[in-house]
This record gives sequence, structure tokens and C-alpha cells, in this order.
Amino acid sequence: KITPVLMAGGSGTRLWPVSRKSFPKQFAPLIGEETLFQASAKRLSGAGYTDPIVMTNADFRFIVAEQLDQIGIAPGAIAIEPSGRNTAPAVLAAALMVAAEDPDRLLLVAPSDHVIPDAKAFAAAVEAGAKPALEGRIVTFGIAPDRPETGYGYLELAGQGEGPQPLARFVEKPDAARAAQMLDQGNFLWNAGIFLFSARAMIEAFRAHAPEYLDLVQAALDQARTDIGFLRLARDPWDKLPDNSIDYAVMEKADNLTVVRFSGRWSDLGGWDAVWREELGRHPSDEGVVADQNSTAIDCNDVLLRSDSDDLQVVGIGLRDVMVVATGDAVLVADKSRAQDVRQAVTALKKKN
Ligand code: GDD
Ligand code: MG
Repeated sequence: KITPVLMAGGSGTRLWPVSRKSFPKQFAPLIGEETLFQASAKRLSGAGYTDPIVMTNADFRFIVAEQLDQIGIAPGAIAIEPSGRNTAPAVLAAALMVAAEDPDRLLLVAPSDHVIPDAKAFAAAVEAGAKPALEGRIVTFGIAPDRPETGYGYLELAGQGEGPQPLARFVEKPDAARAAQMLDQGNFLWNAGIFLFSARAMIEAFRAHAPEYLDLVQAALDQARTDIGFLRLARDPWDKLPDNSIDYAVMEKADNLTVVRFSGRWSDLGGWDAVWREELGRHPSDEGVVADQNSTAIDCNDVLLRSDSDDLQVVGIGLRDVMVVATGDAVLVADKSRAQDVRQAVTALKKKN
């Protein structure tokens, strides 16, 4: 059986104002009724999986517990990181937790902010990755790119064909020129941000490429305490950890990566432009208009109009490439090409208050 590890500690600032510090995007029903976190937990449940490990922080612990309860999933563990140190320490902590029981068990680490509608195709990709993972490889899942996105990691294929294949290189978040070049070259896939590996293989990868994490994360686990069902990692060692993503700390350096292609629909709802694209995929409109039940678009093209408050109607007239997102207490109005800059709004507001 595979142990799912859900990464649910990010704050999703690019989806302000719906995503808030105390209630980030993965827990909000951004698309459809379920939250992204719930959809991710469901995708990694059922036969073939153990109960999931959820890596999160103190602010989100009750949201995590409640949202899992709502969909009838019992967590194997909800581990609380004392401070945000990005994904590298969180992944290692999960690997060490599993290794204590069985170092050869496979872990499937997945973000909780993705949209993957085709559960069957996803399950098939995981199945294809299980064999190389059992052989000690770290398996990544590759998505055919369709634009020079700079917010993703890129996987350079070493060979041809459809089956699992070794990776020549992992390039995390290239600049715009590099991204365009990799798109043109044609032998790169996007990193879906989902990883399949044995506990042992990940610990060995840290030992080889990021050994400074090992003792600190182990100490945080050894000194952890259980608090009404939550596993609170020890603050002292945790606060000393470097702040880095698994992509930079390990994946860019590892030499035992394998990639499995995933050709189902996949989207990291990283910004409002991605939400716009995803909604258009579900409800195509020639004008590129995405408007919810509280919003009206008149003579608009390529706009996202959204109000999460029934007390606030949004009307757009003659707009092009604009996103308007309203909640009960805030309204975002932005050029659609500036979706990644929404995090600046959060920084600016923090300074003001
Ligand atoms: N537990 C925990 N602790 N989770 C975290 C933390 C943390 O400190 N920081 C981020 N996360 C969670 C986020 O909530 C998200 O679910 C996941 O880890 C990935 O973090 P992001 O910040 O969203 O990463 P990214 O989107 O910039 O990049 C990653 O994903 C891309 C695809 O979506 C990389 O893996 C890229 O290579 C990849 O292309
Ligand atoms: Mg992301």
C-alpha cells in the first residue's frame, strides 16, 4: 500500500482575496462544491492507499481535521510544522515517519491545491510509477506544457516513448527566456509537483544532497508531542531548518529521477488566471467570459468576474483581459496578465495595517 502525504501548509497569497492567511486557497471551494484539499484527499484514498499523512501548520489544523471528517477520511497523522520551512523539511518528516514503520513503503506526496478531474487517468499514472519507485527511483509526473510558464518546474526527458523514463534534468522555476526555450525544444514536461518514492529512497536522497536537514527533522520528530490527535513537531530543531522547497533542495540535484507522463487535465490553481482557464475549460465561452451567479458581463472579452458574497453584485462593461474578484470585505481588480503579482497586494496590505 502507498501512504499519501498531503502538503497543506502553503498560504496561497496569489489567490487573494478569497485565499486568506487564516483560510488559504486549498481549503476554499474555488471550483465546484468541494475544496481543493478535499478533492486531493479523495483522489489519494481507497484500495491501494493507507490513511493519509497531512503536513500542515497550527493555523490550519482544525480546518484539515474538519474537512477530512466531512468526506469520511480518517487521517493517519496530521503533523503540525511549528514554522513554515517550505516543502523540503515536510517531505523528509513524512518519509522518516513512514520509515519508522517500514522503510520500503511507498509515499505519494501531493500538493493540495491542484485540479485533476480524471481520477482514473491519475490512478493509472500512479500505478505505472509504482515499479520504478519500488526499485528506488524517485518518480515525478510530467505534464505536456502549453505555455512558457515560469511558476513550474521543468523535466527534461532523457529518452522517447510513453512509458516511465529516466530524467535528464530537473529545472525548477526558470526565467521567462529559459521557459520559452524549453517549450520550443519539445523534450521538456512540466513537473506536476507530485512525487512517488520509497521512504528509504527519499532519506537517501537527503543524505546525498541535503544532509543538513536529517538530524534536525529527526529531532523534531523524536521530541514531537501528540496534542488531541495532532502531531506537533518540536519547535527548537524545526526553527533551525533551512527554508527551501523539495524541488530546489533535492529534485534539482538527484540523479535517480524517473518521469511518468500524465496526459489527463491538470492545473495548479496558482493564480486567478489559472482559475479563469480552468472554469473556461468546464464551461467554454467564445468571448472567454467567466462570470459567477453574482456577476454580470456586458460586452466583455477574456474576463473573470467573481463575487463570493451574495450581498455584492459585480458588473463589468466593455472590459478586456481583466479579473475582478470580490469577497465581503475586499475587491481585487487586476489586469489578467498580472495574476502572479497579486501576492504583492498582500504584502502591500500587510505594510499598511
Ligand atoms: N506542509 C507544508 N509546509 N506545505 C507547504 C509548505 C510548507 O511549509 N509550503 C508550501 N506547501 C504546500 C502548498 O500548500 C502546496 O500544496 C504545495 O506545498 C506546493 O507548494 P507551492 O508553493 O504551491 O509550490 P509551487 O506551485 O510554487 O511549485 C511546485 O509545484 C509546481 C506544480 O504545481 C513545484 O513542485 C514545481 O516544480 C511544480 O511545477
Ligand atoms: Mg503550487
